Amino acid sequence: MSSGTLSLVTVSDGSSFLPAAARQHGGYLPVILLVLVPSFLVALAMGSLYFVVMPAMPFLREYYFSQQEQTYATYVVPLLTHIAGGTVALIAGPINLVNALRNGYTRTHRVFGSIYAVAVTVSATCAVFMSFHAYPGVIPFGRLIVTSGFCTLGLTWLFTLVMALRGILIRHDIAAHRFWIISNFSLTFAAVVIRGENGAIIALDQFSRLYPWLGWVSWVPCLIVGMLLARHVNRTRERRAEELAGAHV
Ligand code: HEM
Repeated sequence: MSSGTLSLVTVSDGSSFLPAAARQHGGYLPVILLVLVPSFLVALAMGSLYFVVMPAMPFLREYYFSQQEQTYATYVVPLLTHIAGGTVALIAGPINLVNALRNGYTRTHRVFGSIYAVAVTVSATCAVFMSFHAYPGVIPFGRLIVTSGFCTLGLTWLFTLVMALRGILIRHDIAAHRFWIISNFSLTFAAVVIRGENGAIIALDQFSRLYPWLGWVSWVPCLIVGMLLARHVNRTRERRAEELAGAHV
């Protein structure tokens, strides 16, 4: 069992009040709010756009990502399965990040964790397929750039999930689980970042030239920040556990 396990157990005080728990664990509340609110908004926007608004008003397809109208009509099942899974992951993921700070909610954590894992697995599998049909824009090597980017993202999304599950289910190492699941969620969060980047390249009137690069630019910075944050969280927990262990000697 790792020191991460020790830190979680030692630091636990059974608190169920989020702000207090967040303060106790190093004031991650701002991060949670910055992540949770945008994730829910994108999930709500994308879920309702593809499952309510567009089916009710199909003519909107002409105005929203019309370049992909034909492709999305051809691959409607993998596309909608991908979006459904992604929407669930964007809701269940942040709920579990909050749960992780609320000690004593192990059962809820497992339920949302299982939902998140299934959602990511389904969505990522369809995402890898869709990456071969993503919009290549009008630049040389656009197909290669966009497909390699989204495909690598989909595979990394799956890989980090497997590592997070292996950490907790096989190795019983909470620190490893925490590291990989934060890294994994930083990739889920790429779905939020890409919406902002999309808006920026549309505003710059460069959509068809810059879109293929979003296959990479949407997630590489997220993963770097996510891994640094995960390492920071683990180190903070370890230090706290050592301090508490020292105080009890
Ligand atoms: C993190 C891994 C993800 C990968 C690798 C991925 C990959 C893809 C790909 C390749 C496409 C087709 C893009 C195109 O036609 O050019 C796509 C479309 C889409 N994806 Fe994802 N995706 C991911 C996560 C998510 C998440 C978490 C959501 C949550 C809602 C999501 C929602 C959508 C939507 C709504 C579309 C349709 C295009 C649009 O309206 O922007 N994706 N995705």
